[in-house]
Amino acid sequence: MGWSLAVVVVLVGILGSSAMAKKTDDELPTNEVNTKAESTRDSALSLNNCRGRRKQLLRRVFLNNRSISCNDGSPAGYYIRKSNGNRRWVIYLEGGWYCFDLQSCHNRWIRLRSLMTSRLWPEIRHGGGILSSDPKENPYLWNANHVLIPYCSSDAWSGAFYPKTPDQLAFLGSEIILEVFHQLVSYGILGAHKVYLVGSSAGGTGVMINLDRVAHAFHHWGSTAEVRGIADSGWFLDNEPFNPMPCTDTHTCKPTEAVKLGFKFWNGQLPESCRAQYASDEWWKCYFGYRVYPTMQSK
Ligand SMILES: *[C@@H]1O[C@H](CO)[C@@H](O)[C@H](O)[C@H]1NC(C)=O
Repeated sequence: MGWSLAVVVVLVGILGSSAMAKKTDDELPTNEVNTKAESTRDSALSLNNCRGRRKQLLRRVFLNNRSISCNDGSPAGYYIRKSNGNRRWVIYLEGGWYCFDLQSCHNRWIRLRSLMTSRLWPEIRHGGGILSSDPKENPYLWNANHVLIPYCSSDAWSGAFYPKTPDQLAFLGSEIILEVFHQLVSYGILGAHKVYLVGSSAGGTGVMINLDRVAHAFHHWGSTAEVRGIADSGWFLDNEPFNPMPCTDTHTCKPTEAVKLGFKFWNGQLPESCRAQYASDEWWKCYFGYRVYPTMQSK
């Protein structure tokens, strides 16, 4: 098969954008970037002075399929900046913990509502770090096509729960990712050379549990792109906490308890190759990087 798949796990702290760019550097073949990049970069640096502000902007697009929504039923979507003629794509999954039962999701709705709805999404956003179009800030992927998928499903990007009554929350993280890729077909993503699925924190977990599925869908749709993952700070650990507290909220509940509850609450979708290693009552273990990573394909 003409495509391959691997994952790069970058174990860095908060917002490791420079570390991510560095790691990406190691991964990119020099013939593609470094040879032509020098002169292009110089002209881009000068262009950037006058056009930079506008070029930084990513535009909001809501999903056509309105049943694939944020927690509160508002439409999910993405922000995009096309780079015409460039065959590399960066798709970035935002992070922001999760909620895993009625109580924790109610608390999240009170305190972190912006992570559960698209109602206040601005029309444009600035891409920073690996989504920056500034060659100084993002030396290797500044001219790639950039897509940001805001996190509004509270499910570590794993859910496929469609509400059955109007008062239930939706948890559709895994559906949102696939539908965004599906919609990107009309922008020419199937002609990509390389697609990087990138995420921080819960978004990093999202990369690891969705990468194989996305790569398979891509292949199925006829793409020969190389699909890679960059997971930044999403390698949650299931060790015992130093100071165990009752599982009443996201920040007191230990991750093993939270994802055990969440997996059911979200109708969590986890990679087949990882689930195959465990009995069904232990599938939640596949939320943890050190368990799911070795089962990912083409490593
Ligand atoms: C929208 O998505 C749902 C869930 O994947 C699917 O069942 C439905 O057919 C889709 N609707 C359209 C119009 O594509």
